[in-house]
Amino acid sequence: MSSRSLQAIPPYIFWELDARRTAHRERGRTLVDLGIGSPDQAIPHVVIEAMQRAIVDRKLSGYPDFHGHPMFVSAAAQYMQERFGVTLDPTRELMALAGSKEGIAELVLSHCNAEDVVLVPEIYYPVYERATRLAGATPVFVPIFADGTLNLASISAADLARARMLIINYPCNPTTATVTALELARLVAFAERHALVLVSDLAYSELSYDGFRVPSVLEVPGAMKVAVELHTCSKSFNMAGLRVAFIAGNAAVLATLDAYRANIGYGVSTLAQLAGAAAFENHKSIVPPVVAEYTLRRDAFVASLHRGGWHVTAPHATMYLWLDVPEGFDDWSWVEALMDGPGVVVTPGLAFGTAGHGHFRVSLVQPADVLTHAAEAITQLAAVGAAR
Ligand SMILES: Cc1ncc(COP(=O)(O)O)c(C=O)c1O
Repeated sequence: MSSRSLQAIPPYIFWELDARRTAHRERGRTLVDLGIGSPDQAIPHVVIEAMQRAIVDRKLSGYPDFHGHPMFVSAAAQYMQERFGVTLDPTRELMALAGSKEGIAELVLSHCNAEDVVLVPEIYYPVYERATRLAGATPVFVPIFADGTLNLASISAADLARARMLIINYPCNPTTATVTALELARLVAFAERHALVLVSDLAYSELSYDGFRVPSVLEVPGAMKVAVELHTCSKSFNMAGLRVAFIAGNAAVLATLDAYRANIGYGVSTLAQLAGAAAFENHKSIVPPVVAEYTLRRDAFVASLHRGGWHVTAPHATMYLWLDVPEGFDDWSWVEALMDGPGVVVTPGLAFGTAGHGHFRVSLVQPADVLTHAAEAITQLAAVGAAR
């Protein structure tokens, strides 16, 4: 029998999707999986070499430091300096994590009590809501405007009085919305005014196109007083399987997180941290080819949709497209029809909260030619639905 807190959360939609995908595969179907955002490109060579050196190093066989390996935290701090001009003390203002998903959950669990509210954008990466419920706290969903900014004025005074945290995610999974420096400054001021911890999930810091530069919340003057930011090696460096990330920002928030983590684990695999250190040290050479490949894929997919009569705007960031479920289908019937027919797996918008209803997400995790055919299949199936 699961715990009451686990019973309080609905089944994970990615789990459900996984079950449906497995059922199709067991029936012998070959599927083109554009569901989960799991990078398919190779781990960079410098990272593999760093792991090969680390695995035979006798000094590294013990438990890792709770806080992070000195090489990892200093490489990550150096990256923050080079990439965002943000100066951090790697001993107090930066910590290693075994992935940012776990990190966000631990952050919520280490800070929130049953009487607390966590402010979550109404279309969101699922862990924000789920960790809040596991902590026994209450998620309050903040509506988003068409440009992706938050309607902060809609939060009731009662919810605001109980609010402990505000979580933001720009560039956003799944909507692909991005943010300006001005908007980040507004969010920092709001967090300060209402004594909130501002949590910026910056999983897609490097995946941006057409000259768009993704900003860090820590660039905002004074942000260190209220903000923390999560960065991951998963997407920028194709290292999702290695589970390595970091959190940077307010030292008191990090100390609380550290105290929580010390009770349940032993820090982050040293091998993964040394791989992460190599990635951050070499970010300037690793990132451009990764971005070039996603640009190619995005353009191929969007061009194929356009040929099929779907006039979508190409996203400026992330590895996703956030599209409308076509006429004649609902969220799950569309996902099922795509799996049943052309064998294409996409994620229903409902996976990202009820406001995601009526949308679906495509992950650009296949080569351009495969994506071209998948987009063709999508537009053809949509035409069948419209004709019904
Ligand atoms: C917005 C967002 N945050 C966090 C994560 C998880 O990243 P990690 O692999 O570091 O746990 C993802 C993964 O898809 C994501 O989209």
